[in-house]
Amino acid sequence: MFGAGREIRKNSRQSQTSANTSEMNRFSSAGERDPEQVRAMFGRVARRYDLANHLLSGGLDFWWRRRASDIVRPWQPRRVLDLATGSGDLALTIARKLPQAEMTGADFSPEMLAVARAKGLTNTVVADALQLPFADASFDVVTVAFGLRNMANWGAALAEMARVLAPGGHVLVLDFSLPSGRWRPLYRAYLHHGLPWLAGLITGQKEAYDYLGDSIEKFPSGQPMCALIEANGFQDASAEPLSGGIVTIYCATRSCSRRR
Ligand SMILES: C[S@@+](CC[C@H](N)C(=O)[O-])C[C@H]1O[C@@H](n2cnc3c(N)ncnc32)[C@H](O)[C@@H]1O
Repeated sequence: MFGAGREIRKNSRQSQTSANTSEMNRFSSAGERDPEQVRAMFGRVARRYDLANHLLSGGLDFWWRRRASDIVRPWQPRRVLDLATGSGDLALTIARKLPQAEMTGADFSPEMLAVARAKGLTNTVVADALQLPFADASFDVVTVAFGLRNMANWGAALAEMARVLAPGGHVLVLDFSLPSGRWRPLYRAYLHHGLPWLAGLITGQKEAYDYLGDSIEKFPSGQPMCALIEANGFQDASAEPLSGGIVTIYCATRSCSRRR
């Protein structure tokens, strides 16, 4: 089920021509979940969030974050922002690989940030990703793992990431996607039935995990996601599916002439 990843690469000119306008509008905003509800939901699951993650992914989440940090390391950033940092696992994994970098973890859930701080993430900021309290060009790298999907407006969130990145800086988005081919129906059955049931036992918050399946179904992946990234201040977007395509890592470079 969790086979090796395959890489899709494309240049910005290709994606601009392939992304038609109505498709972009469809993907510019999730807009169906009240951000306040999302914030409250993560506040409720914060204490058991890590345990649920590790059990429900069969430990694969460690490998996904390790792969993300391996991608970030050669960029040699001085200032890194891990957005929607939650309990801080990606920020801490990157910080271990790049001990000289200045790492900031931002999230709009104080409860999730309290868990991150208890695990050793010292620089945390309570902030909404759609309105970051950072000056333009404050960071060399922005990462966001399993966070963009939950935001009210994906396009606006990406544009805000571009704003706080220095020209030539990098963004890395790690998030769920759906596997293709024969595994898809099996994975969907797990996502919509097995996973919420199991997660309900672990966290006592089954409805939060019903929402997970729905949000993954609606979230763009592959080429449409690369096009969305490139339409919001980035160039040279690429996608690397992992574990048979159940998650994908997207990377892009902040354009020198940023469009908002
Ligand atoms: C699924 S968790 C991911 C946490 C962590 N990045 C990880 O890899 O485990 C999603 C996180 O996104 C945060 N989040 C969702 N929308 C946000 C927003 N608009 N601004 C800031 N944080 C947000 C939630 O509070 C939550 O901590």
